[in-house]
Amino acid sequence: MAESIHVQGLDRKAQYESLFPQILALVEGETDSLANMANVIAALKFGMEFFWVGVYFVKENELVLGPFQGPVACTRIAKGKGVCGYAYAIGQTVLVKDVDLFPGHIACSSESKSEIVVPLFNKNKEVIGVLDIDSVKLSDFDDTDKYYLEKVALLLSSF
Ligand code: SME
Repeated sequence: MAESIHVQGLDRKAQYESLFPQILALVEGETDSLANMANVIAALKFGMEFFWVGVYFVKENELVLGPFQGPVACTRIAKGKGVCGYAYAIGQTVLVKDVDLFPGHIACSSESKSEIVVPLFNKNKEVIGVLDIDSVKLSDFDDTDKYYLEKVALLLSSF
């Protein structure tokens, strides 16, 4: 098992390319989904040095906080509310370059400036949760993040 994650000093794409195999190695051989999710979230948080990384799970048509790394967060988010609820409602990745310009953004922390939310799907293509990542920098996410984080979301959906 990887004892630490090494991706610093690379550009974002190279960071993901380095991190992704380490994430696969981290979960290999472990069947407990919560343990795997918790470790993947920690690997993303500390490997990529994001401000907040976590998952919300769909429970009775709302999002409920799951494993995360970062400051304490809102526990429940209604479908359609905020960036997470919007990604849940439309079933697509949502990139927000400036959270203050997103109508209805839920500010769990005033430090969060930009955000990406990637839905998790079951085999019937229903949204079962979202992967939410926040940054303290404006415009910190682009299509490179979308590409790699959708791969991570696919992995999280498979646990
Ligand atoms: N900003 C999110 C809420 C979740 S916290 O950032 C962890 C949103 O508007 O969906």
